[in-house]
Amino acid sequence: MCRIIAHRGSSGTHPENTMSAFEEARRAGADGIELDVHLTKDQKLVVIHDEWVNRTTNGQGYIQDLTFNEINQLDAGSWFSEAFQGEKIPELSDVLSWSVNHPMILNIELKNIFIDYPGIEKLVTQEVKRFGLEDQVILSSFNHVSLKKLSQQDIKLAMLYTAKLVDPWLYAEYLGVSGLHPGMHSIDVQMVKKAKDAGVDVRIYTVNEEKDMVRWFKAGCTAIITDFPEKARQVRYKVLG
Ligand code: G3P
Ligand code: MG
Repeated sequence: MCRIIAHRGSSGTHPENTMSAFEEARRAGADGIELDVHLTKDQKLVVIHDEWVNRTTNGQGYIQDLTFNEINQLDAGSWFSEAFQGEKIPELSDVLSWSVNHPMILNIELKNIFIDYPGIEKLVTQEVKRFGLEDQVILSSFNHVSLKKLSQQDIKLAMLYTAKLVDPWLYAEYLGVSGLHPGMHSIDVQMVKKAKDAGVDVRIYTVNEEKDMVRWFKAGCTAIITDFPEKARQVRYKVLG
């Protein structure tokens, strides 16, 4: 059964990458959540999508230039709706500790594409192990150098990409990752089948429209990553029962 992973939590209905978006994903019956991590100036792992806080909070600046204490003062909910005023940027450990009581797939995306955040790989794996969540977690990144560094760990890895790659399952094997996380326009139904036949998982993002959900559910992908987990569950029920 194709799994449903809530992209930045239930980010279509709640402010992305906040505990309320993750809680809503759980309530809606998602099989997992996806979240993005960056490193603060004082080396804390925080859950936010952009390199800066400007778009999704009432603050300004790059995360690498702010301390956790400064980030913790920010309102990460009001930009989405006044109803979410006071929502915070979570620390990764907040989500991990929540996950211990709510076992779901936890797809942690390392956002080290434009900013390197040296040492982020080790910090993330240490945190996952501290909470004993190795079996639930998938680490993904567009930074494939970083994935190669992680390939000795006993945590599932997946390569994010948006290009049209030739035989990406062969590249996945070379990198030492067990999953492909392609943008929806970088893969087709045939490729899903070939990757699955090669023993490689395929989780496709960001699948929000019903017609696309239907296509990927029928294609037999491992998971879709969506902003609308509740809708995805309804569509999956219609398609796969
Ligand atoms: O992990 C899938 C997706 O989150 C990758 O793109 O920019 O939404 O983090 P982005
Ligand atoms: Mg992401």
